[in-house]
Amino acid sequence: MSDTKQAPAWTVADIPDLSGRTVVVTGPTLGGLGHHTALELARKGAYVVLAGRTLSKVDDTVSAIRAEVPGAQLETLQLDLASLDSVREAAAAAAVFGPIDVLVNNAGVMGTSYSRTEDGLELQMATNHFGPFLLTGLLLPQLAASGEGRVVSVSSNMHQFARKAPLADPKTKKGRYARWRVYSQSKLANLLFTAELDRRLRAAKKPVVAVAAHPGFAGTHLVANGQTGRSSGGLASILNGTVRGISQSPAAGAWPSLMAATDDLPGNTYVGPSGLQQMTGTPRIVGRTKLARDEDAARKLWEISEETVGLRYP
Ligand SMILES: NC(=O)c1ccc[n+]([C@@H]2O[C@H](COP(=O)([O-])OP(=O)(O)OC[C@H]3O[C@@H](n4cnc5c(N)ncnc54)[C@H](OP(=O)(O)O)[C@@H]3O)[C@@H](O)[C@H]2O)c1
Repeated sequence: MSDTKQAPAWTVADIPDLSGRTVVVTGPTLGGLGHHTALELARKGAYVVLAGRTLSKVDDTVSAIRAEVPGAQLETLQLDLASLDSVREAAAAAAVFGPIDVLVNNAGVMGTSYSRTEDGLELQMATNHFGPFLLTGLLLPQLAASGEGRVVSVSSNMHQFARKAPLADPKTKKGRYARWRVYSQSKLANLLFTAELDRRLRAAKKPVVAVAAHPGFAGTHLVANGQTGRSSGGLASILNGTVRGISQSPAAGAWPSLMAATDDLPGNTYVGPSGLQQMTGTPRIVGRTKLARDEDAARKLWEISEETVGLRYP
């Protein structure tokens, strides 16, 4: 008989008191993972900065969180990750928040039709990787100033469908655009970014760790947003209903991000659901593909990203 005891499953009850801590959560739209991540952090007393591209939507989330947590300490920040100028403006505006304990790079788009941003970048790579890369670099001094900073990147099970890392010139279109391949590559990029960021932070002796999480499959607006460009009405509402019928709730989907943001974990840890195929369930530490552990690819992606956003760090 084995005497190894299984550790009890992590739940939101394990989140410590976060009074005095400042957390920035990107993409906090009502009903999404960012909303539920922000809600639980606020419930534990954190000062939560909700960073979204549409301030009226962010205000809706503020109202919803305040309805559940009357004393919630919330701030809002305008941030469009698909615009490097907007990211720079948001980071400059974030200076007033002082030291930042945790940055949750949650916002993202999935399976969008082909388009290029004002910076000449493909939309999914811009929103899911390059924007967060720049934001993280610009907020790094504030993360380090907290003395124990943490960067959480929200990746996906879909990273495993990427056959190669996105290492081509991001401003040049080569071949046919395949929306799901590019999404998978952007989520692989989140894991390569986490590994390389953590490695560089250690080398630079910065008091910040980088970790990653994925929600499994959660009933948010991600599918509707990606396929219709809107989160409700018409086909978007049909897609939302279909996804909700076969997935876990957005509240449950936020648990891996919450564990990654608050549990005592070593750098470069990846957290995901513990259930079948990591689709649902309480969070635990999970593995990642060989490509996501490719140090050479991580280094190259970092160099391309620095060049693309015009910022070298740490
Ligand atoms: N749901 C799942 O099953 C699932 C699975 C794997 C990974 N994920 C990841 O989880 C994260 C959160 O997604 P979700 O499922 O909560 O989807 P969601 O409900 O669509 O939320 C996505 C959030 O990202 C924001 N966003 C999109 N483009 C942006 C931009 N250019 N600048 C700033 N914010 C932007 C959205 O804002 P708007 O409301 O203004 O569009 C929204 O707040 C994403 O990174 C996604 O890849 C989700």
